[in-house]
Amino acid sequence: MKLDVFMSPTEMSAGDTQGRVVAVIDVLRASTSIAVALNSGAKSVIPAETVDDVITLSKQFERSEVLLAGERRMVAIPGFDVGNSPLEFTPKAVEGCTVLISTTNGTRALLGIQGARDIVIASYVNLSAVTAMLRAAARSDTDISIVCAGDEGHFSLEDATCAGRYVSSIINRASSIVTNDAAHACALIDGMYGDNIEKIFKDSSHGKALAEAGFGDDLVAAAAVDSHPVVPIYQERQITRLGPDRER
Ligand code: MLT
Repeated sequence: MKLDVFMSPTEMSAGDTQGRVVAVIDVLRASTSIAVALNSGAKSVIPAETVDDVITLSKQFERSEVLLAGERRMVAIPGFDVGNSPLEFTPKAVEGCTVLISTTNGTRALLGIQGARDIVIASYVNLSAVTAMLRAAARSDTDISIVCAGDEGHFSLEDATCAGRYVSSIINRASSIVTNDAAHACALIDGMYGDNIEKIFKDSSHGKALAEAGFGDDLVAAAAVDSHPVVPIYQERQITRLGPDRER
């Protein structure tokens, strides 16, 4: 089976996700925040491309049932309940709510995936949970694509390094997996940083920008491996937690 990494959604064509299990990564911060929201008790998370899409979607719900979330240039969208900081998605804020979210790269990457068998949202905070699901796909001989949300079509260090961690964890259990060059490169970068995830964020341009904008604590939260052990599955336009009530 194949295990491919795409450094940005712009690198992919439809065939790259068709029938595959696809993991979407936007470590800073959308995929981390989505995992945190679901682990904190959000009923579901619905990704939207634009601010207007969030507002239109919200009209299908009672106001008390939804949390409007998202960022542009890292800061909360005016009038929304929260931004895109994982620290905002506390049980008190999200319990029982549907989170409607629009972010610059992460939600757009998700919305662009076509024809996948399953779409899962991956980050460091849910590393082992998602790895187990991807290993199961590999065992059943299903091809896997890992899509880095990147930064406006460009490479992003933290997404690539996290993708590398997933690649290494999957291939060390199965020798018959064929990886593309990007997967190989990501595994090498991950090996270079080892467990020093905060160093990755210190070196990455988006990590630096977040720290400068006052979101340094988000970097600590995003580096907390396995702190939110959920498998967020995107099906029928909403992301929910894989579990007894949401089987694949
Ligand atoms: C994005 O989707 O581009 C990000 O998650 C940006 C951020 O909130 O840091």
